[in-house]
Amino acid sequence: MMHFSTLFTIAALAFSSVYGAALTQVSNYGGKATSKAQMWVYVPDNVKPNPSLVVAIHSCESSAQKYFQNSKIPWKQGSDGKGYISIWPSAPQSCWDVSSKSTLVRNGGGDSNAIANMIIYAMDKYKVNATQVFVTGGSSGAMMGNVMAAAYPDLMSAVSVYSGVAAGCYAGSGVAQWNNACANGQSTKTAQAWGDVARAMYPGYNGTRPRMQIWHGSVDGTIAPQNYQEELKQWTNIFGVSMTATDSKDNTPEKNYKTSNYGPNVQGIYATGVGHSCPAHLAESEAWFGLK
Ligand SMILES: *[C@@H]1O[C@H](CO)[C@@H](O)[C@H](O)[C@H]1NC(C)=O
Ligand SMILES: *[C@@H]1O[C@H](CO)[C@@H](O)[C@H](O)[C@H]1NC(C)=O
Repeated sequence: MMHFSTLFTIAALAFSSVYGAALTQVSNYGGKATSKAQMWVYVPDNVKPNPSLVVAIHSCESSAQKYFQNSKIPWKQGSDGKGYISIWPSAPQSCWDVSSKSTLVRNGGGDSNAIANMIIYAMDKYKVNATQVFVTGGSSGAMMGNVMAAAYPDLMSAVSVYSGVAAGCYAGSGVAQWNNACANGQSTKTAQAWGDVARAMYPGYNGTRPRMQIWHGSVDGTIAPQNYQEELKQWTNIFGVSMTATDSKDNTPEKNYKTSNYGPNVQGIYATGVGHSCPAHLAESEAWFGLK
């Protein structure tokens, strides 16, 4: 008997041959993770040679398919517009595991490990330009984006996260465990302590690290805006720069959004009056990635 996902893949392939590219599952992407996260991929019809790759990580109570079909999530449009591949990981639970030890350490077998395996698979399979791998996500997907940057800094060049928390902020005993203290903005640390949390996810790593663009809304009632500060502390410490912005622009990229740079590698965008979660801004995230 044919498995439902196989049937679905065949249907998707048949559909794509008539109507163009479609989101397609890769059922065996390899690697040793125990996480059952699914890999879905979108290769646009106009894919470039040695393409760039964007990993778009969904929020809680979503999935690769729902996120891909959500008209507010612009990464399919981005893939079509600029000819890059996008990977759409699908969580084995309602939310991504950003709490257990297996996901908060490199090669620990958890969800972050599974996403790293998807990236490695795609880089080989689609001959991705290794300097052009990027990660984005919203809410739970943004939390995972922070974890990916800490545990797999060698796999990506830049990250753009919307309404997340610092890597390790959700740490707890269970898999994909909710963390009220972190969500409510009560898990605060010094920049040094947050940097140490991130560094501990890949001990001894001394290579380049992805540039971080961090978005948050000022009236986020789900993931408290204090988490914006905690993320900035973490990544400014990682890059050894001050929490005092080197430059800031009000009403950028739009009214009531403030863009602040902390040297060339960390950018914060704080959206006054915006709740959970801050909408993805395709042009600004693509510009941060350097996608043309
Ligand atoms: C990879 O991307 C970089 C930056 O855009 C570019 O300079 C380089 O030529 C690319 N390499 C390949 C093989 O396309
Ligand atoms: C960086 O890490 C590599 C691999 O672990 C090691 O061989 C090298 O000596 C390290 N370099 C520095 C400057 O610490």
